[in-house]
Amino acid sequence: MTDTTAAPHAATAQPTDRAAQDTTPSREIRWGIVGTGRIARRFAQGLAFVPRARLAALWSRRVGPAQAFADEFGGTVYDSFDTLLASGIDALYIATLQDSHADYAIAALQAGLHVLCEKPACINRAQLERVLETARASQRLFMEAMKPPFYPLYGRLREHLAADPIGDIGLVRAGCSVPGVPADHPSLSFEHAGGALLDIGIYEMFLAVDWLGAPRDVQTFGRLGATGVDTFASLNSQHERGGIAQLFCGLDLHGKGDALLMAKGGHVTLHEPWWNPSRATIRYADGRVVELDEPFEGGGLNYETAHFCALIRAGALESPLMPHDMSRQMIAMADAARTALGLKFAGE
Ligand SMILES: NC(=O)c1ccc[n+]([C@@H]2O[C@H](COP(=O)([O-])OP(=O)(O)OC[C@H]3O[C@@H](n4cnc5c(N)ncnc54)[C@H](OP(=O)(O)O)[C@@H]3O)[C@@H](O)[C@H]2O)c1
Repeated sequence: MTDTTAAPHAATAQPTDRAAQDTTPSREIRWGIVGTGRIARRFAQGLAFVPRARLAALWSRRVGPAQAFADEFGGTVYDSFDTLLASGIDALYIATLQDSHADYAIAALQAGLHVLCEKPACINRAQLERVLETARASQRLFMEAMKPPFYPLYGRLREHLAADPIGDIGLVRAGCSVPGVPADHPSLSFEHAGGALLDIGIYEMFLAVDWLGAPRDVQTFGRLGATGVDTFASLNSQHERGGIAQLFCGLDLHGKGDALLMAKGGHVTLHEPWWNPSRATIRYADGRVVELDEPFEGGGLNYETAHFCALIRAGALESPLMPHDMSRQMIAMADAARTALGLKFAGE
């Protein structure tokens, strides 16, 4: 069964402190999923690689895909979002399109669940503040599912640079542009708050904020396409520690590439696809070259999921690797870029 009329605002499940605040180190985390599309599949595949976690419940607007998903990955299909919230799960993974992330997150947090929300967590800063305020008031964990920092390669790079530094990163250069997306794909949908900035650029904004700190100034050139969303954007941003980022994201040119982190003592190449990072090359100014190679398992989303489960067990309300302020800073960059391009979504 499925309920196509159930709106997230209608959630009536009451906050419950039972399992959600159980900090037993060994306890199993029971997951629910809303939205059973492409990324939800990858999440469910990854969950099999996360110890003491299982898919318990799911809901999607159409019963056919939801049931097929449950047949493949397990879990009980619920007939409405409200019944999913009240099903006894500990955490909700939000895998719908971004125009609905904030509503589902707020309803789930108010129902006493911890929330791992796909990127972009929200479509603008104002929405994100409402979600974060609800997380604070509900005393529940909220994290944007920004995957790169949880991959083994990324952690190893951090460790290596701490032990054998190249100095403060002064420039982050990153870009990705993927043409040929079908006209009816959500990435090109105005209604669903698509566009290159929120679809692809948000990863680059993460990289900039992670290595350079909060943005202070964002300058943007770009264009909107036939559906009204941005199909190409080039950003130059200055950050709190003085570093600069050069980023591009697009849906109308072909251009995937490595990411570059530059410092006085050397530079790092994060090899494509750096948003699922497994290889990096560090070139020191003294001529040394260090290659890092860290394959990943489970499709990659399993690392952020395992981190999230560990945070629940520890009673944490925020991730140290993907804290709320980073989500704020990333979406602030996207807001600034969209303002420059004259792109406003419904209700903005
Ligand atoms: N982390 C990553 O690597 C990664 C990669 C790709 C995408 N993403 C993000 O993940 C999200 C989903 O992308 P996707 O590629 O999985 O999209 P998708 O394949 O189109 O799947 C979206 C799913 O969400 C459902 N849905 C959409 N809007 C909904 C709403 N308002 N209420 C309830 N269900 C709704 C759809 O159900 P219906 O069938 O009923 O429409 C579908 O099951 C996006 O925010 C995207 O940016 C992340």
